[in-house]
Amino acid sequence: MSLIRYAVVALVPATLAGLIYAVASGLGQSEVTAQRFVNLQEGASPHAGFRRAHAKGFCLAGDFESNGALASYTDAALFQQGQTPFVGRISIAGTNPTAPDMRSPVRSLALSFGTGDADSWRTAMNTPPVMAVATPEAFYAQLAALAPDPATGQRDPARIQAFFASHPETRAFLAWQKTYVPTQSFASERYHSINAFYLVNREGRRQAVRWAAVPAAPVANATPLDAENPQALQDEFMARLKQGPVVFDLVFSLAGTGDDENDPTVPWPETRPAISAGKLIIRATSAESAGNCKDINFDPLILPRGMAATLDPILRARSAAYAESYRRRARESL
Ligand code: HEM
Repeated sequence: MSLIRYAVVALVPATLAGLIYAVASGLGQSEVTAQRFVNLQEGASPHAGFRRAHAKGFCLAGDFESNGALASYTDAALFQQGQTPFVGRISIAGTNPTAPDMRSPVRSLALSFGTGDADSWRTAMNTPPVMAVATPEAFYAQLAALAPDPATGQRDPARIQAFFASHPETRAFLAWQKTYVPTQSFASERYHSINAFYLVNREGRRQAVRWAAVPAAPVANATPLDAENPQALQDEFMARLKQGPVVFDLVFSLAGTGDDENDPTVPWPETRPAISAGKLIIRATSAESAGNCKDINFDPLILPRGMAATLDPILRARSAAYAESYRRRARESL
C-alpha cells in the first residue's frame, strides 16, 4: 500500500514536469502562440537585442497636424483640430539588422503619438495594402513556407507555391505584389494599416476604418539609388530631411456595407469615402539607441479613447508576438 502511495507521489511531479516541458517547448502542439511565432521569425541564430521582425530601421520625430475632419467620427483628442507630437520608426521587413535596404520586399512606418498618457496611439504600417492571409494560423503557415531550409539556407519554391495554391485568400496580396514597384525613397511609399479598427464618436457610434500614410506631394529622386549600398534608403531619407520636413497625409478609408472589417486580405472598393485626417510632418531622424524608438513596442492595440480594435484575430496575434519579441530583445539590451 505504502509502495503504491510512494509511486503515486513520485509520478505526479514527474507527469507535471513533463506537461510543463511539453507546453513550454511547444511539443505536440498545433496551437499558434506568440512564442512559436517569434521562435519561427528569429530562426536558429537570433540577432540579440534587435526586433525579431523589421530588425533594421531608424528613429524619427515630428508632429501630426490634425485638420479635425474626423472629429464627428471619433472623440480621440489627436483627431480634433490641433497638433500632436509623435516619435516613430522607419524599417524594412526581415530579421537581419544589417540587411541591404533595397533587397527587402516590405517597407514600414511605425508611429507613437502623444506624450504617454491615456490618449496615446501606436500604429505600425506596411507597404502592402492587404495581408496574404486572414488568421494567425495561416500566417504562421505562410512564414513556415517562406522560411529558408536550415540545411541549404535557401527557400523551397515548391513549398512556397504549394502554400499559395492552398490559400486562395492570398489572391489580392499576390495581385498587389505583381504590380508593386519599390520606390527610390522611404518618402515616396504608401504605408497601410492593413488591419481595420473602429473610430468611436461621443455618442458611441462606431465606424470601421483602415488608414494609410500617403506622400503629401509627389516625391522625386535627383538620381537613382545605388542598389549596392546597403544603407541606400536610409542615406537618401536623411539627406532629404536636411532639405526640409518629409510630409505624409494620413488618409482614412471608411468601410461600407458588405466590407468585412475582420478580414485583412480583402481590399475595400476604391469608391469608399477617403478622408484625410491631417498631415504627418517628419522633422528629425536619429539612429536607434537606448532611450529612443528602439525601446518602443509598436503594439497595434495601444489605442486612444475614441478608437477600438475590431475582432480581426490578427490584431491579437500581433499584440502578443510584439510583446514576446520585445521581452526577448529587452532582456538582451535594455
Ligand atoms: C500575425 C501577424 C503578425 C505577426 C506575428 C507580426 C510579428 C511582428 C514582430 C514579432 C515584430 C517585432 C516587434 C518588436 O520587437 O517590437 C513586428 C514588427 C512590426 N510589424 Fe508585424 N507582425 C504581424 C503582422 C503585421 C502587419 C499586418 C503589419 C502591418 C500593418 C505589421 C507591421 C509591423 C511593423 C511596421 C513592425 C516594426 C515596428 C517597429 O518599427 O518597431 N505586422 N511584427
